Amino acid sequence: MADEHAGERPVAVSVAGPGQHDALGQPGGSWYGWWRGDPLPALPPLDGLAVERMDDARVIAAIAGLSEDEAHRRLTTGNRAYVARIHGAAVAHGWSATHTVEIGEISLTFTLPPGDHYLWAFATAPDWRGRGIYPRLLHAILRAEMDEAARFWIGHEPGNTASARGILKAGFTHAGDLLLLPGGRLALVPAGPLERARAGADVLGAALHV
Ligand SMILES: CC(C)(COP(=O)(O)OP(=O)(O)OC[C@H]1O[C@@H](n2cnc3c(N)ncnc32)[C@H](O)[C@@H]1OP(=O)(O)O)[C@@H](O)C(=O)NCCC(=O)NCCS
Repeated sequence: MADEHAGERPVAVSVAGPGQHDALGQPGGSWYGWWRGDPLPALPPLDGLAVERMDDARVIAAIAGLSEDEAHRRLTTGNRAYVARIHGAAVAHGWSATHTVEIGEISLTFTLPPGDHYLWAFATAPDWRGRGIYPRLLHAILRAEMDEAARFWIGHEPGNTASARGILKAGFTHAGDLLLLPGGRLALVPAGPLERARAGADVLGAALHV
């Protein structure tokens, strides 16, 4: 596995896990942004990897383990599906939302500002994890959509270190960690540049907790 990562930059991960920030609220996960002009760190090619956009609800439903109705609902409400294949076999998938965002884990729904996309519901098949497919899939989506969107957002649940590492390897900036406050309010604790955290909080409708 180490050889497959040769040439990739080391990634330092700080992931808020269960139990952290309890005095303020419940951890709600971490939030990251990649903005047009940010670097796309070089990732060595993976033999046989190809990424395609998938508009066929039946096919993406089978790959993602969704009902065809749910896949069709997503595809007709501003979501695009992407599939990563190795030598033709589907090994990972994920979605790009261009209009409405639904984050079921924290019961949050909001409309994206024009020019913002949200990347979500990624999974790599268990036998293919740890080979760097996720950051390469993210890169393929950024490259496909960066002419029409200036900012991309992505998140993960508290403690999902595998996701955090893949997101950071792709070049996203950790904007902050979410707190679910009493009364259903949301706050973002900045983790990096304040400008990125402020923009990340705005898009989520969260208060910035500095
Ligand atoms: C998160 C996920 C998409 C990452 O996909 P991936 O293609 O394995 O991504 P990477 O190869 O870049 O690996 C990311 C990290 O996973 C961890 N990892 C490595 N091998 C692994 C394995 N066999 N099984 C699980 N995780 C592994 C490592 O921490 C790795 O980071 P490192 O290479 O810097 O050590 C994948 O683990 C997954 O599908 N998880 C379940 C669904 C999920 O959590 N989706 C993300 C929602 S935001």
